Amino acid sequence: MQRSMTRQPTLPLFLLAFSLSCGPAVAGSGAEPRGSDILAPYKRELQQALRAGMEQGVVEAIGACRVKAPDIAAALSRDGVRVGRASHRLRNPANAAPGWVEPVLAEYVASTAERTPRRVALPDGREGYVEPILLQPLCTACHGTALAAPVAARINELYPGDHAVGFEVGDLRGVFWAEYPVAQ
Ligand code: HEC
Repeated sequence: MQRSMTRQPTLPLFLLAFSLSCGPAVAGSGAEPRGSDILAPYKRELQQALRAGMEQGVVEAIGACRVKAPDIAAALSRDGVRVGRASHRLRNPANAAPGWVEPVLAEYVASTAERTPRRVALPDGREGYVEPILLQPLCTACHGTALAAPVAARINELYPGDHAVGFEVGDLRGVFWAEYPVAQ
C-alpha cells in the first residue's frame, strides 16, 4: 500500500525529467547550430548534381545546374524552412540574397577574417544561418578567369547579365543560407 503511493508520483516525474532532458538535446544537438544540419543535404545534393553533370561535359553541366539547383532548394524548403545560395556577383538574379543575409554577405566581402558561419535572430521566432562559399578548383570551369569558348557562349546565352566569372580558387563565391523556426 505504501509502496504504490510512492510509486504513483514517480512515473510522471520521471516522464517530466525525461522530456526536459530531451528538449535541449534535440534542439541544440550539442554546439552545432541547426542551420548547418539543414544545409548539409542541400550541399550534398548540389554537389552530386554538379558532379553527375560534369561527367557529361561542362556545357551539359550548365544545364544541370540551371534546372537542378532551384529544384533542390525548393524540395528542402518546407515546414517553415527555407534554403538558398546567394552571391555579391550573381549569375542568376533569382538567387539574390534575402534582406537579412545582405549584411552578412557584405561583411564576408569586406574582410577575409570575417568569413565564419553566422547565426542571425529573425522576427517571429525564426533564426537564420549563413556560411561562406569559397571557390574550389572544380568551380573554375564555369566561374573562373578563363572559360572554354563553348562554356562561355552557353553561359552568356542563358545568363546575359552574368557577373559570376573571373573568380580564382579561394575567392569568396557567395553564401549558403538557411532560415527556420527556432526549436523550443
Ligand atoms: C558546369 C558549370 C558550373 C560549375 C562547374 C559550377 N557552377 Fe556555380 N553556377 C552555374 C550556373 C549555371 C549557375 C546558375 C544556377 C541557377 O540558375 O540557379 C550557378 C550558380 C552558382 C551560385 C548561385 C549564385 C548565383 O550567382 O546565381 C553559386 C553560389 C555557385 N554557382 C557556386 C559554385 C561553386 C562553389 C562551384 C564549385 C563547387 C560551382 N558553382 C561550380 C554553373 C556552374
